Amino acid sequence: MAGKSKVTVVGAGNIGDIIMITSGKPRQPGMSRTDLLNDNQEIVSSVVEQAVQHSPDAIIVMMANPLDAMCHVALDTSGFPRERVIGQAGVLDTARYRTFIAQELQVSVREVFALVLGGHGDTMVPLPSMATVSGVPITELLPQDRVEAIVERTRGGGGEIVELLGSGSAFYAPAAAAVEMMDAILLDQKRILPCATYLQGEYGLNDLFVGVPVKLGAGGVEEIIELDLSDEEREQLEYSANDVREMVEVLHS
Ligand code: 2OP
Repeated sequence: MAGKSKVTVVGAGNIGDIIMITSGKPRQPGMSRTDLLNDNQEIVSSVVEQAVQHSPDAIIVMMANPLDAMCHVALDTSGFPRERVIGQAGVLDTARYRTFIAQELQVSVREVFALVLGGHGDTMVPLPSMATVSGVPITELLPQDRVEAIVERTRGGGGEIVELLGSGSAFYAPAAAAVEMMDAILLDQKRILPCATYLQGEYGLNDLFVGVPVKLGAGGVEEIIELDLSDEEREQLEYSANDVREMVEVLHS
């Protein structure tokens, strides 16, 4: 006899629109994400301006590079509250970090939990202290030099793909990360995911988009999760945030 399935239906309220901004020039071999700043600022501000006229209550998910700076452009142009402007990169960078850990340890990527914080650039902060395989810290499973090599490869993951492709930049992993974020918002999953979010005092950082763990649901960024970082991790996060700050200063100059 087939078992009865028990389903609990919970009202999720109105599901709003998501504006996912993918417009912008892609990186080519030899280019950093920052090299795209001026061109993509123009493209992104024009796209945001038009999109918000049609969807004034939407949640913006930014994909264009340089990611953190383009989040600033979207926030300024849209006038939206900070919880409705989110950048994707942490989910993408964390997917690469988890993959490299899984490959090194020859385990399924599903067993690997990890987090990458900071800006979406070469100073991003993959956290070894938060990376575990079925609950066991990778620092207990791998020698320090292998952990460091994985952290470095993660930081350069986007550049590695650009070099391999020869023309254009990654698309499979960013698309998969985008779907994960859209599911979290549209299905009100309240997932804890690392995303670029506008910090106002959290992590000691002000008025800056930086990748940190957030609760992502129907309201967009519903909560910013403040992790207890070590002094070294906090320093790395500040260093990465400084890179973002320098780019934002160029935007506003
Ligand atoms: C990446 O890291 C495109 O920035 C994107 O692949």
